[in-house]
Amino acid sequence: MRISVIGCGYVGLVTGTGLAEVGHQVICTDNDPERIAALKAGVVPIYEPYLDAMLAANHRAQRLSFTSDATQAVREAEAIFICVGTPPLENGEADLSAIDNVARLIAAEACDSKLIVEKSTVPAQTGQQLKRVLEVYRRNVGVEFRVASNPEFLREGTAVEDFLHPDRIVIGVEDEASEKQLREIYRPILERRFQCPVHLSGCPAMRPPTLVVTTINSAELIKHASNSFLAMKISYANIIADVCEKVGADIKEVTYAMGLDPRIGPRFLEAGLGFGGFCLPKDVQAFIRLADRSGVDFGMLKEAEHVNKRRIELFFEKIRQALWVVKDKQVGVLGLAFKANTDDIRFAPSLEIIRRLLAEGAHVRAYDQEAMDKTSEILPQVRYSREPYEVAQDADALLILTEWPEFRQLDWARIYSMMGRPLVLDGRNLLNPAAMMDLGFEYYSFGRPTEALTPNLVPSGVSSASTASASA
Ligand code: UGA
Repeated sequence: MRISVIGCGYVGLVTGTGLAEVGHQVICTDNDPERIAALKAGVVPIYEPYLDAMLAANHRAQRLSFTSDATQAVREAEAIFICVGTPPLENGEADLSAIDNVARLIAAEACDSKLIVEKSTVPAQTGQQLKRVLEVYRRNVGVEFRVASNPEFLREGTAVEDFLHPDRIVIGVEDEASEKQLREIYRPILERRFQCPVHLSGCPAMRPPTLVVTTINSAELIKHASNSFLAMKISYANIIADVCEKVGADIKEVTYAMGLDPRIGPRFLEAGLGFGGFCLPKDVQAFIRLADRSGVDFGMLKEAEHVNKRRIELFFEKIRQALWVVKDKQVGVLGLAFKANTDDIRFAPSLEIIRRLLAEGAHVRAYDQEAMDKTSEILPQVRYSREPYEVAQDADALLILTEWPEFRQLDWARIYSMMGRPLVLDGRNLLNPAAMMDLGFEYYSFGRPTEALTPNLVPSGVSSASTASASA
């Protein structure tokens, strides 16, 4: 099928590339001409595992093309996927102006009937507004627009895998033709009729996805309700971690046992600095606003948001307690991205923590495998290191702010011997407290007993044999 994707951000690029991969003819467009020029030259502006190779292969095979000419993209497609950004406004509501602009463009330029698929995350009832705008601004009589909602459930870092091997595909439709067309678009994925290009781990054994057909309003709500539930789950684990600290319990033990109950499940119960990124925080805000406007008291979600904001405060309190005076201290930071396997720093907890450290007069040195270039644009005062050990050199404290698994594999005995003071504050509960203490570290994390972590005030030095695994 001839498909256009409007918006070449995370969602648009993964969607466009994925649809081309499973056999469709895809044109991607964006209102940033530099982005399009880079894509034409094969430069992918985001870090997303497997995306570069898949995009290049489909570009070469001429199934995927890029254009700055949005009119061309609109005219050539049978189906148009709207993947533009819906960033938060100051009041927390989603800014839908980009969707409105795209709708008016489609209405004005389309010469034949089309399926318009709303892929961007939007509040419920946006589809109804979209239908109205398309109708009101339609220029060519006889052209019909069918609107559908097809929310994305892509996680940054595993977005390609999530696209090709989803748990579910949700389509919100109001007519048979749209349902049929969307079933056709997703048929290769639903029937697993494509050769997985990147041999994702375990993909041959994966179950085919469930197709859920709903109304447009329900499909929109499914997306917000899912992200908000995940956010509440994380905040719940964080509050339990706080209780663990008070009563001497261990959050890892508690959430492990909770997660064995299939009604609860083990995922999204990792306590620490809380949720960041461009999706969960903004979707929670937008959902709260939607509930408020609808006259529904969603206090539960408001509390989850409040708990999340408090995580930074609590972590900074731990830093202050451990360092006493922050001014003039050398602080090493491991991890800047809002989570592992991405270079995205939007709403990353690391940014706020570093800003506070700098404001209090600390000297900050940071390392992240992917996110340093982006961070250095907004925090030029930080010194960036090309390898993780450098940030530990002579540091008074080392902070872990992103759950990159590689940090577990570091030679922590070496780090111990490099630091000015062997103090580690682990904002992601990544390391094993007992192993860190064995190495002589003063180690703090979230929701794990501190009694067992009595600081080893006179480090006895670390022998080369004591490179015990510090993994949690
Ligand atoms: C999220 C959803 O998980 C996707 O399903 C959804 O499609 C996407 O938003 C979207 O709306 O586009 P993403 O923003 O990539 O995906 O990130 P998550 O994996 O959900 O992580 C969000 C944050 O929560 C990260 O900062 C992560 O470190 C944190 N987190 C996650 C925890 O603190 N604890 C956990 O147990 C899990």
